Amino acid sequence: MKNIVILISGSGTNMAAIVKAAQRERWADHYGARVAAVISNKAEAKGLQLANAEGIVTEVIDHKAYTSREAFDAALAQLVDRYDRPGQPALVLLAGFMRILTPGFVQRYAGRLVNIHPSLLPAFSGLHTHQRAIDAGCKVAGTTVHLVTAELDHGPILAQAVVPVLPGDTADTLSARVLTQEHLIYPQAVAQWLRKKV
Ligand code: GAR
Repeated sequence: MKNIVILISGSGTNMAAIVKAAQRERWADHYGARVAAVISNKAEAKGLQLANAEGIVTEVIDHKAYTSREAFDAALAQLVDRYDRPGQPALVLLAGFMRILTPGFVQRYAGRLVNIHPSLLPAFSGLHTHQRAIDAGCKVAGTTVHLVTAELDHGPILAQAVVPVLPGDTADTLSARVLTQEHLIYPQAVAQWLRKKV
């Protein structure tokens, strides 16, 4: 069985959408894959409760307990690697994981580390994507699922979804519209990635 490990920092709604899709679409039967663990760098992340409610193992690793980014990433990698199986490295999904990862970490999981970013990359990498799209006068915005490479918010695009930017939109209203699309395309992109591996 291939393990999927999901890293979160907050509400975890994308993680929950992936967990639900895995159950509904029987990823275990079709792709030999299951969501094995949810790891958060914040103990208060709401997504941990959602994961627990689904009976998924949760772990917390507080980045503030580490003196450097490298030390945190090394400890995180140790935790993630527990879910590797012989000949079956884990698939690692970033779902609102708000930490910049070191090149060493990214390299270790090359080709099996996936992120979702709330903009139509390559536009608006980084933070405050919705406000920046509104300020720029964009008529559309969206979200991107991509393989993670060493450069922040770059890497081969697996899926994108577009939403309109409506008159009077705030970062919150636009973010909510984008999020509904994220919940559709992230599970779809993961299923497609798993299908290719079968
Ligand atoms: C999502 O919109 C995701 O695209 C974004 O954080 C939100 C997490 O929501 N990720 C980033 O900004 C990464 N740079 P969730 O915790 O409810 O899934």
